[in-house]
Amino acid sequence: MKKIIQAASVLIVIIIITVGYISGNAGGEKHVALNAEAKISIESGKQLKTAERKVQQTKAALPDTNIKQETVTKSAMAVSQQDIHAPMVAITFDDGPHPKYSLEIAEALKKHGAVATFFVLGSRAEKYKSTIAAIAKNGNEIGNHTYSHKELTRLKKTEIINELGKTSDILKDITGVKPVLIRPAYGSVNDKVRLYAGSPLILWSIDTLDWKTRDTEKIIHKTLNEVKDGDIILMHDIYGTTAKAAEVIIRELKARGYRMVTVSQLYKARGTDLKPGRKYDHCTSGHRKK
Ligand code: NI
Repeated sequence: MKKIIQAASVLIVIIIITVGYISGNAGGEKHVALNAEAKISIESGKQLKTAERKVQQTKAALPDTNIKQETVTKSAMAVSQQDIHAPMVAITFDDGPHPKYSLEIAEALKKHGAVATFFVLGSRAEKYKSTIAAIAKNGNEIGNHTYSHKELTRLKKTEIINELGKTSDILKDITGVKPVLIRPAYGSVNDKVRLYAGSPLILWSIDTLDWKTRDTEKIIHKTLNEVKDGDIILMHDIYGTTAKAAEVIIRELKARGYRMVTVSQLYKARGTDLKPGRKYDHCTSGHRKK
């Protein structure tokens, strides 16, 4: 009997141990599972923290980015407002091109971030094609100043068309673009010229008289004394005195805050459409009419 009790006790102990082991093991698994959960939660906690940190960093970076963006937008607006309200002039050079002086002037314009309009003669364009190409390459406008500098008002219809048409074709061959503007020689315009020109006729508001004085100081003085917003300035790029004066004038106008643009750009900037056969000599108030 005693043996039976002992055996039963041993069996019970074994059962207890086994059950304990099984349940312990299960607990272990649970524990492992819990550990895993904890690990995951710690890891997700880390990830969360990392994510939070990133958000914080982004938040910290955001105002900066906003400021930068704002600054960029503001400065862009300032530039475009300046574009509209900055004083503008269109410097024009007639009777060229000249293989030396036109290029000197083009260089001075480029140096100061300026452009101009060169009203060239067809006869000279034929002779100095590479000069025309070089001037046009810098963003300057090439206009039509007739083929042989004839006074259009004295010509017959066919002669007017020929003087202008021939020049236009020559310029298109060189630059790939038909000139859109005409400067009639001597500024002479009548109804017949208006009718057959087929393009806007561009005169001027400041005559530097460079062709007459051939004096660099006088050209500079006259131009800088008279210049105002919207002017079209007349010069001739066939004189060394003009090339020298132009360099100083361009530098000084830039220092005074003027934008030096082509004739087409001047009118476009101020919302004025140039019409064929119409005369234009300056452009001041187009943008203020709005
Ligand atoms: Ni001329």
